[in-house]
Amino acid sequence: MRVIYFLIILLISLQSYSIYAQQNHPLAKLWGISDTEVPEWLDAEKYLIMIDGILRPILEWDKNFSSSFGGTYIDIFKNWLVVNTVDYSKVEELLALPQISPYNKSLYFENVTDSIEQLKYSLQEITLIADSYDVRGALIYTNMELNNIVIYFFDTLINHTEFINAVEPFNPEIIYASTQSFSQNMIRPRRRDVNSRDLVVKVSGGDGVYNEAGGGVMCSIGCWLKHQRTSDNLYITTAGHCYDEGSDENYFYYSPWNSNSHVLPIGSIQFESRADGFYDFAVIIVENENLDPQFIIRNDDADQYRELIIINDGLISSHYAHICKSGVITHLTCGYVLGFDGVFYGIEENNNKVVELIITDLYGLSGDAGGSVFSFASSENLHSVGVHGIVVTVGPGISAVQSLDTILYFVHDKLGIFRDVMVYVEGS
Ligand SMILES: *[C@@H]1O[C@H](CO)[C@@H](O)[C@H](O)[C@H]1NC(C)=O
Ligand SMILES: *[C@@H]1O[C@H](CO)[C@@H](O)[C@H](O)[C@H]1NC(C)=O
Ligand SMILES: *[C@@H]1O[C@H](CO)[C@@H](O)[C@H](O)[C@H]1NC(C)=O
Ligand SMILES: *[C@@H]1O[C@H](CO)[C@@H](O)[C@H](O)[C@H]1NC(C)=O
Repeated sequence: MRVIYFLIILLISLQSYSIYAQQNHPLAKLWGISDTEVPEWLDAEKYLIMIDGILRPILEWDKNFSSSFGGTYIDIFKNWLVVNTVDYSKVEELLALPQISPYNKSLYFENVTDSIEQLKYSLQEITLIADSYDVRGALIYTNMELNNIVIYFFDTLINHTEFINAVEPFNPEIIYASTQSFSQNMIRPRRRDVNSRDLVVKVSGGDGVYNEAGGGVMCSIGCWLKHQRTSDNLYITTAGHCYDEGSDENYFYYSPWNSNSHVLPIGSIQFESRADGFYDFAVIIVENENLDPQFIIRNDDADQYRELIIINDGLISSHYAHICKSGVITHLTCGYVLGFDGVFYGIEENNNKVVELIITDLYGLSGDAGGSVFSFASSENLHSVGVHGIVVTVGPGISAVQSLDTILYFVHDKLGIFRDVMVYVEGS
C-alpha cells in the first residue's frame, strides 16, 4: 500500500513537472521559459516596447538629447529598456520629462561612446564607401547593443581588404559568417502532402513557392494581398530574387512543407521590385481559383500553435524585440531584432543592393526567402500575430527582412492599380 501511495505521488509530481516545463509556444523556446510564463513575458515585452516608442523619438529628434544618447534596446531578461548614454549629465533632464518620468524604473542607463548622431553619420559614410568599392556579399547595419556599425561578410572568396582599410576610421565591428558557429536543433518534420486533386488548397504564409524559370528555384510565401475596393484580384508576396529577370519562363507553383511536389499552379509575376529600386520583393497574381487565401502563418511541425492568425500588419521598431519567421526550408524559427535600416550587398554583380532592411538573428536557409516575418501580438491569444515583412537574405546566424511597410509604401506609390492594396488579415 505504501509503495502504491508513493508511486501515485511520484506520478503526480512528474506530471505537474512536465506541465510546468512544457515549451510548445515558440516564445517559450526563444526565451527559455515554460508555456505558462509566456503571457506574462509577452506583456512585459510589450510594456518595454511601449516605453521605447515614447523614448525613441525624443532621443532621435530632440536636439537636446540626440547628441547625448546612443539609442535604446530591450533587455527582456533584465526586464528593462537599456538607454545608451554618452553624456550622463543629461540623464536627470531626460527623467524629468513628464512623458518619461512615469517609466523611470524600467530604464537602465548604460555608458557608451557613440551618440545616435554619430552612429547615423558612420552608417551613412560606411555605406557610401561600400558603394564606391563595389562591395559584395555583405550586410551593414547599426547594432545598438554594440553601439557600433556592424559589417557582416557572407562566406565568399571575395577579398575585402581595401574596403576594410577604407572604413577603418569609423572603427566598425567586422563579423565573418562562420557556418560552424551556429547550429539549430531541427524539429522533426511532419509530412503534409497536398493532393493535387483536392479541390481547394489552403495556402498560408511560410508555404513554398516554386518558380520554374532558370532550372527552378524554391522560395517561400510571405502573405496574401487583396484590394480594398477596386478589384477582386488576389496576390501573394515573395522575395524579388525568386523572379528570374533573364528568363521568360517565370511561373509560380505552390509547394507544401516536407514535400518535393510543385504541381499546383499559383500564377505569374505581377510586379518585381528590383528593376525599380533597391528592394527585394515580388508580387505574384493568383490565377488558380482553387487556392484558398489564408490569413494564417504555418507552423505544422508543432503539436500546438500550428496555425498562427495574422491580426494586423504593424511596424516593428524596437531593438531586441522578438521576431519570428516561417519558411518552407527551416519552418518556424524565432530570434531577435538586431537592427533597422540595414543594407545588403548581394554576391552577384550589378545592381544588387537592397536597403531598408530589418536585421535579425533568425535562423533560415536560402529557400526560406520570401517567408513571413512576424511577432506575437497578444498575451490573451497566443495564436495571434502581427506580420512585419518577408525574409530576403539569410546567412549563418543572420537574416535580413524587407518590411511590409516598405513594400506597401512602394506599391501604393508606384503602381496605379495597387493604390488600395492591403495585407489580408483576420477580419479584412
Ligand atoms: C532644450 O532645452 C532647453 C533648456 O534646457 C529648453 O528651453 C528647450 O525647449 C529644449 N528644446 C527642446 C526641443 O525640447
Ligand atoms: C522615479 O519617479 C518617481 C515618481 O514618479 C520618483 O519618486 C523617483 O524618485 C524617481 N526615480 C528616479 C531614479 O528618478
Ligand atoms: C555611467 O557613468 C556615470 C558617470 O560617470 C556613473 O555615475 C554611472 O554609474 C555609470 N553607469 C554605469 C552603468 O556604469
Ligand atoms: C587582398 O587584397 C590585398 C590588397 O589589395 C592584398 O594585399 C592581399 O594579398 C589580398 N589577399 C588575398 C588573400 O588575396
